Amino acid sequence: MTGPAFTPRVFSGIQPSGGLTLGNYLGALKRFVEMQNDASHECVFCLVDLHAITVWQDPKALAQQTREAAAGFMAAGIDPAQSILFNQSQVAAHAELAWLFNCVARMGWMGRMTQWKDKSGKNTENASLGLFAYPALMAADILAYHATHVPVGEDQKQHLELTRDIATKFNHDFGVDFFPITEPVIDGPATRVMSLRDGTKKMSKSDPSDMSRINLSDDADTIAQKFRKARTDPEPLPETYGDLKDRPEARNLIDIYAALTGKSTDTVMSDVAGQGWGQFKPHLAEVAAETMAPITDEMNRLLGDPGEIDRILGEGSAKAREISEPIVARTRDIMGMISSG
Ligand code: AMP
Ligand code: TRP
Repeated sequence: MTGPAFTPRVFSGIQPSGGLTLGNYLGALKRFVEMQNDASHECVFCLVDLHAITVWQDPKALAQQTREAAAGFMAAGIDPAQSILFNQSQVAAHAELAWLFNCVARMGWMGRMTQWKDKSGKNTENASLGLFAYPALMAADILAYHATHVPVGEDQKQHLELTRDIATKFNHDFGVDFFPITEPVIDGPATRVMSLRDGTKKMSKSDPSDMSRINLSDDADTIAQKFRKARTDPEPLPETYGDLKDRPEARNLIDIYAALTGKSTDTVMSDVAGQGWGQFKPHLAEVAAETMAPITDEMNRLLGDPGEIDRILGEGSAKAREISEPIVARTRDIMGMISSG
């Protein structure tokens, strides 16, 4: 539904609120790299530090986590010469457009967001105002670039619908066709990688238990230990993927294996049917360690030169400003604000 006036452009973001996880890698990063390498898309990737501070972040840790995420992106294959890679707070257009969108979006829309309900919990009175307004900032991230395609994991679907609602309402209220109606790109076997401790919760960098996730920074021994201890049921692996319907932990490990190997879940099931966990888990750990090791090594090498990472983010921010500033200036203009020139 994107109008013909909009050139294809990919935008996505990751919060530097902790180290990157296997969920981020399979659900987001791996697909970012595929989209970058498909020459028909210009790609903009953002470390969304303004989103991260909607919950408390220790300043020193935030800077380090932002560099680590940048290094993770590059280690996974994002090339800053080909794609724009930057951190959100260096480009003021995001915060500015978010304010304008705060005045377009409705309280009721925000109040319905499941992430808001989950993260604010029982104590909404004490949650930050930023946490409530979070989806308007996310819409600003995307629409400040007139992005047409947004690759994300399943958990971001509702926020992307809200981005479409904001664009639609803005276009309607001001009688323009200015913002594109963005397409979510949510596909592949790993759009929702689950916790290794609880198959009903997503794998998250903010889970208090480190055993619940594989981090991009984990070494092979740690990966093996985490998969060995991953919660499962006592049954062996069945014949078909459909038989895993009521076995969330088992299905999660199969999904991870399929995503890592690039095999379909049907092929995986025909390979592993009948195996017990004692056989399958070490094999999964080996495949995961083999895939992750070159990325982890490269990430650590890049982190040895933090000045170079900061330089790359600065350069990316300058390129990001070139695209987003005129779009936000035009937005102000549409809304009736007088500018100096
Ligand atoms: P976040 O870490 O919440 O900033 O998420 C960054 C990106 O990774 C988003 O596109 C998420 O949808 C995706 N993502 C995060 N956790 C997972 C997960 N467990 N499975 C799949 N995708 C995920
Ligand atoms: N909210 C996303 C998450 O937590 C991160 C994000 C912020 C994002 N801005 C974005 C993702 C814009 C895609 C596009 O995962």
